[in-house]
Amino acid sequence: MLSFILLALLAHASPIQSKHPHPKINIIILAGQSNMAGRGGVFNDTITETLTWDGIVPPECQPNPSILRLTANLTWVEAHEPLHADIDYNKTNGVGPGMPFANTVLNKDPNFGVIGLVPCAIGGTNISQWQKGEFLYEQLVKRSQFAMQSGVYRAMLWYQGESDTENQQDAELYKDNLKRFFNDLRFDLKTPKLPIIQVALASGPGAYIEEVREAQLKTDMAYVKCVDAKGLPLGPDGLHLTTSSQVTLGQMLAHAFLGIFTYNIFNMFKLITWFSMLFVAGSTLVLGQNNTAKDIFILAGQSNMAGRGGVNHGKWDGNIPPECKPKRSILRFTANLDWEVAREPLHVDIDVGKVCGVGPGMAFANEIIRSNRSGTGIIGLVPCAVGGTSINKWGKGSRLYGQLVKRANEALKDGGGTIRAILWYQGESDTLNKDDAETYKGKMVKLIEDLRLDLNLPSLPFIQVALASGEGTNTNIEMVRKAQLGIKMKNVKCVDAKGLPLNADNLHLTTMSEVKLGLKLAYAFLLSFSHFH
Ligand SMILES: *[C@@H]1O[C@H](CO)[C@@H](O)[C@H](O)[C@H]1NC(C)=O
Ligand SMILES: *[C@@H]1O[C@H](CO)[C@@H](O)[C@H](O)[C@H]1NC(C)=O
Ligand SMILES: *[C@@H]1O[C@H](CO)[C@@H](O)[C@H](O)[C@H]1NC(C)=O
Ligand SMILES: *[C@@H]1O[C@H](CO)[C@@H](O)[C@H](O)[C@H]1NC(C)=O
Ligand SMILES: *[C@@H]1O[C@H](CO)[C@@H](O)[C@H](O)[C@H]1NC(C)=O
Ligand SMILES: *[C@@H]1O[C@H](CO)[C@@H](O)[C@H](O)[C@H]1NC(C)=O
Repeated sequence: MLSFILLALLAHASPIQSKHPHPKINIIILAGQSNMAGRGGVFNDTITETLTWDGIVPPECQPNPSILRLTANLTWVEAHEPLHADIDYNKTNGVGPGMPFANTVLNKDPNFGVIGLVPCAIGGTNISQWQKGEFLYEQLVKRSQFAMQSGVYRAMLWYQGESDTENQQDAELYKDNLKRFFNDLRFDLKTPKLPIIQVALASGPGAYIEEVREAQLKTDMAYVKCVDAKGLPLGPDGLHLTTSSQVTLGQMLAHAFLGIFTYNIFNMFKLITWFSMLFVAGSTLVLGQNNTAKDIFILAGQSNMAGRGGVNHGKWDGNIPPECKPKRSILRFTANLDWEVAREPLHVDIDVGKVCGVGPGMAFANEIIRSNRSGTGIIGLVPCAVGGTSINKWGKGSRLYGQLVKRANEALKDGGGTIRAILWYQGESDTLNKDDAETYKGKMVKLIEDLRLDLNLPSLPFIQVALASGEGTNTNIEMVRKAQLGIKMKNVKCVDAKGLPLNADNLHLTTMSEVKLGLKLAYAFLLSFSHFH
């Protein structure tokens, strides 16, 4: 690790000059789908009825001895269009943004040195296919790491998302999937600040283009920039950028890159902090024993915490999205005070008498495990939520309060682990009546204080959810939300569920909304409290 930091610093200390005897290649990764691979100048030949490239290479895309390309067989050659011919080899490739990008960078900064383009884009691919573990991801990492042997990573240019515009669920999950991909890639390339310049869609085959664009334009990650391709002229298929559009796009990407690049002077302190955060070690796993140290999370509140995702007409549809799948490292504390591998519905034996479905707990736990930042590597979920309960039903002395404290203490027995946080989603029942809504804040503050005292954890983190819905009037819902968002106590956070799509009953979160909420809770936890151990 130290040697990597030293290398990185050395690499950045001396600007790379082309007259340097062993110049390092400035690596630019190109990834995404067809508009990154390049379809500029590809047309349907009416005689042969096949897609054909017209072979026209504008001046901005001409080869240059300082622009190299990593071939499919991992050889550096002088780059020329079509850059992706041997990568996206099942399709007819034409002009893409890579060459005009590289030529523009060299024009603007003649001392930049040799550029090594690493084409990796494949037409027609969706964001799921770019997730860690998938073929395209692993291929991308492998090619990049090979390139790195003779160079320095400078940026990834990313243009993808058209394939995620056809299905509402894909579009809704796009942002989370994109961020996960970027995070995983930076981690695996050991370049936490790898600049990424993505393109906001110009087109797409489906109805959810704006949703995907929104995710791209608002990715809000450090060193991720977005250039907007909307409005660039498209070919007759209405999907692919023309050659001249690709030239413009390449220039836009170059300007964004040079902007980032001058800001991206490595800061040793930040780098070390990043690495020490990332290198918290993994874990071993012993299953089903009460005395395995776990990172314990208590889930409490009412129905939307218990989970009603996928419940319609009194039946759960049984759909479990990938984010909620069981794992050997995610355990659940049963009503019988025993640990078992957790699976949906998490509250089945706790919120008895109701039909339980998907809640936020499994998506939350999966994301914490995925982050590798759980010190023990094992999550213990302690479900305690009960549908239809107002905050009075949770006050100290109540049955629910007593149950929560008892279950928490039992979960800790025999070295069962450490309670990391209480996740709390409740308040819908306090919107029925104005008095209840008005007094919510005081009762919640008291509940937090009491629980911390009785659990003997004075600074126990609480992550509450600000209501997405309620049983009463909008005025009362807003009043409870204001209370939740306004609680200013140490180690108390609030994530907002407002706007997450609801079931037909207009009260309960859908399965996908519960997944999103689980991820939000996980990010909130990781951001504020992930100093496990
Ligand atoms: C090309 O155009 C012909 C006639 O419109 C059509 O039948 C054929 O499917 C097209 N080929 C491709 C590859 O799009
Ligand atoms: C790799 O590809 C290049 C050009 O595409 C070719 O010249 C070279 O012989 C190939 N090398 C191997 C080891 O296949
Ligand atoms: C090309 O097509 C073959 C056969 O369908 C498939 O196995 C392969 O994965 C495809 N490769 C690319 C890069 O699209
Ligand atoms: C993504 O594409 C692959 C391959 O075409 C397909 O199997 C998969 O279902 C798609 N995933 C999503 C979430 O659309
Ligand atoms: C865990 O503890 C519970 C209650 O203390 C007990 O009933 C159960 O058998 C224990 N499970 C294991 C695997 O030891
Ligand atoms: C987590 O750690 C494992 C094992 O060290 C590693 O294979 C994996 O890539 C890591 N995942 C993330 C998201 O960092």
